[in-house]
Amino acid sequence: AIERTFSIVKPDAVAKNVIGEIYSRFEKNGLKIVASKMVRLSQEKAEGFYAEHKERPFFPALVEFMTSGPVCVQVLEGEGAILKNRELMGATNPKEAAAGTIRADFASSIDANAVHGSDAPESAAREIAYFFAEEEICAR
Ligand code: CMP
Repeated sequence: AIERTFSIVKPDAVAKNVIGEIYSRFEKNGLKIVASKMVRLSQEKAEGFYAEHKERPFFPALVEFMTSGPVCVQVLEGEGAILKNRELMGATNPKEAAAGTIRADFASSIDANAVHGSDAPESAAREIAYFFAEEEICAR
């Protein structure tokens, strides 16, 4: 089925100037960018986005990292978009990410891991709505 998923190009990848290379991976693999913007996350916005991880030991470092510089947020659309994007990203820890994946090629640590992607339909819907109004998403 055609799905939508939510994606973030994280501060490390924006700083490395590889936004376009990452967008290109999406486009070359059948995912359409149907919404996109660059934003700087406030502490509150980052904490809310990652609320499910609030009790994890890595939460403070995660929020600090995600607010350390601008990010690009996207909605990606395509056949099986949620799983396809997770395959393109590779494992959360870049040391475990398969060769040729975004994280293997651009990430440097488990925090500075270049991209975020929704892991399930429910999280995709919640994450898209957390960043985009319906009229910012362009059917195409
Ligand atoms: P992301 O997909 O954005 O979701 C939560 C983030 O927490 C994850 O990517 C990692 O960048 C970061 N993180 C840091 N440490 C861990 C860990 N031990 N397990 C999972 N995620 C971690």
